[in-house]
Amino acid sequence: MDRSRIAVLLSGRGSNFLSIHSAIEDGRIPARIVAVISDRESAPGLARARELGLEATAVPRKGLPSREAHEQSILEQLRRSGAEWVCLAGYMRLLTPAFVSCYPQRILNIHPSLLPSFPGLRAQAQALEHGVRISGCTVHLVDEQLDSGPIVLQRSVELRPGDSETSLAKRILKAEHRAYPEALNLLLSSSWRVEGRRLIVDEEAPVEAR
Ligand code: GAR
Repeated sequence: MDRSRIAVLLSGRGSNFLSIHSAIEDGRIPARIVAVISDRESAPGLARARELGLEATAVPRKGLPSREAHEQSILEQLRRSGAEWVCLAGYMRLLTPAFVSCYPQRILNIHPSLLPSFPGLRAQAQALEHGVRISGCTVHLVDEQLDSGPIVLQRSVELRPGDSETSLAKRILKAEHRAYPEALNLLLSSSWRVEGRRLIVDEEAPVEAR
């Protein structure tokens, strides 16, 4: 089976990276991780990637003259690795349109809310403060806007009385760990296209026919 070459970009803990890694190891995604890149040398996800024997590199923003220069050095790493797909897994920097255009419809992101509700930072706190009854997570293709781009998959999570930001984030994270591998597998294993904002998966049966 042909395995797609994917790179993971992360800034912190890296639990979504690990869920993708486990799914690949279990044969649930036809891919292999060719690079893990972090903008933070101290990111626990980067250390974990090294322990797993993966090619793991820190590309800190500090020391580089501009955002563009930072992205250029990440792009260099990506090219060197031969990555065909880029998975953002808690990568907390907004990519420039120039970067996004290097991997058209080949950059994925996961966000801890049902987009387009609550983009940006602390999505779980935003959901709590708004008083929604249901939140969740979204895996989407990345475009030039923040937490935007065609939606691949969403999973809902109900809010419970007494929820805190931490308790809600924990339940959403569990959903994220299932959603990201599932979305990645869907994109790599089926034929799909984007029409406007919508991602159309060709062999997806219409709801009535299921
Ligand atoms: C996850 O909850 C992810 O959805 C979120 O950061 C966390 C990273 O956790 N990403 C965003 O908010 C992007 N806008 P992880 O490092 O354990 O995967």
